[in-house]
Amino acid sequence: MKIAVGCDHGGIVLKESVVNTLNALGAEVLDLGCYSTDSVDYPEYGEKVAKAVASGEADAGVIMCGTGIGISIAANKVKGIRAAVVTNTYMAKLTKNHNNANIIALGGRVISPEEAKDIVEAWYTAEYEGGRHQRRLDMISRIEDENFK
Ligand code: RB5
Repeated sequence: MKIAVGCDHGGIVLKESVVNTLNALGAEVLDLGCYSTDSVDYPEYGEKVAKAVASGEADAGVIMCGTGIGISIAANKVKGIRAAVVTNTYMAKLTKNHNNANIIALGGRVISPEEAKDIVEAWYTAEYEGGRHQRRLDMISRIEDENFK
């Protein structure tokens, strides 16, 4: 699996833990920045990761900002992206099981690097369950088709 990773200055505190965890799980990591604590704009990094996933350049993504919220909102503006803010391992597992989230969003001011490790592992190793959940994802795709250019 190739996983695109992106963050702003508020999320960079989690990046090393996330990258190390993904490497330990056997993933190939595509690091799309940012690379320092200098202030940057989270939509740029949400878009970069989302486009990498939507185009197939990466299989999935992990994005980080201060809360995970702003960068997830940006990523979800790219068609085909299901980016979920997660703050614990239960949410991480369930958003793969039920939502087949192709991106998770983490908050560097919300969770610790240790919690990020557990969350990434829970999401990465969980399986999408399909079945009744696919009908709901198809409904989301229909909303996209009707409302995206
Ligand atoms: C940047 O200060 C902060 O607004 C950003 O990292 C994020 O929390 C936005 O949702």
